[in-house]
Amino acid sequence: MNSKLPPVEVATLEKGIDLQRLPAHVAIIMDGNGRWAKQRLLNRVHGHERGAETVRTIVTVSREIGIPTLTLYAFSTENWQRSAIEVSALMSLLKKFLESEKPIMMSNGIRLNAIGQIERLPQDVQDVLFQTIEATRHNPGMVLNLALSYGARAEIVRMTRILAEKARDGSLDPQSITEETVSSHLYTHNLPDPDLLIRTSGEMRISNFLLWQIAYSELHITRTLWPDFSRNEYLDILKDYQQRDRRFGNV
Ligand code: FPP
Repeated sequence: MNSKLPPVEVATLEKGIDLQRLPAHVAIIMDGNGRWAKQRLLNRVHGHERGAETVRTIVTVSREIGIPTLTLYAFSTENWQRSAIEVSALMSLLKKFLESEKPIMMSNGIRLNAIGQIERLPQDVQDVLFQTIEATRHNPGMVLNLALSYGARAEIVRMTRILAEKARDGSLDPQSITEETVSSHLYTHNLPDPDLLIRTSGEMRISNFLLWQIAYSELHITRTLWPDFSRNEYLDILKDYQQRDRRFGNV
């Protein structure tokens, strides 16, 4: 653990969260930036800017209490269909975020990881992304996993092609394929499956996010729009998660 890490806030301890039983992996669908802006008669880009502030808050709390892996759905394969202005604003927000947070990731021991069709991102974003991944690769504290140009179906198609190629060249016997084979050929091969999936803004859907990996995840959908999602609500959700009875199909 890094010695510069801030101590866990008293308010967090007062929630009664058992820091020894935290989810190993929290995944979040950050939704509602556009609606947040619309409610205030602001441009959607303002909503994303405020959303980026919430990202900072939630990364900080996660690191502070000791969540081992946090995945954030920052840009989906479908998001490329948004207006060129919005896509470009999201890309520059992402770049700004990586540049400004790199020192914080270094001092807090956060390792950056990315999943998705990274090759579709603008070159300057890819450059800063790979630089940050490289700079943080030995950080031991928490994995911050950004889903960028990510779609679960595209991920499954990619995995299928890789396995088919291996079968064709004779390095894989189709009969030997197991669930572990599939998991180890997904973008998330180096991460545990999410224990908890949170979605903000109230929509009751998964939106092509981690379809294979969330088979046994606990779901929490809140009506709060992502820019309004707070440290306090996040901690309440973690507390609620700890009260659930996870049976993984068992009795
Ligand atoms: C969903 O809101 C959010 C996104 C498509 C992008 C998420 C991006 C951020 C939180 C900011 C940048 C990210 C990082 C990692 C710095 P929406 O636009 O779909 O909202 P709506 O459903 O209300 O229109």
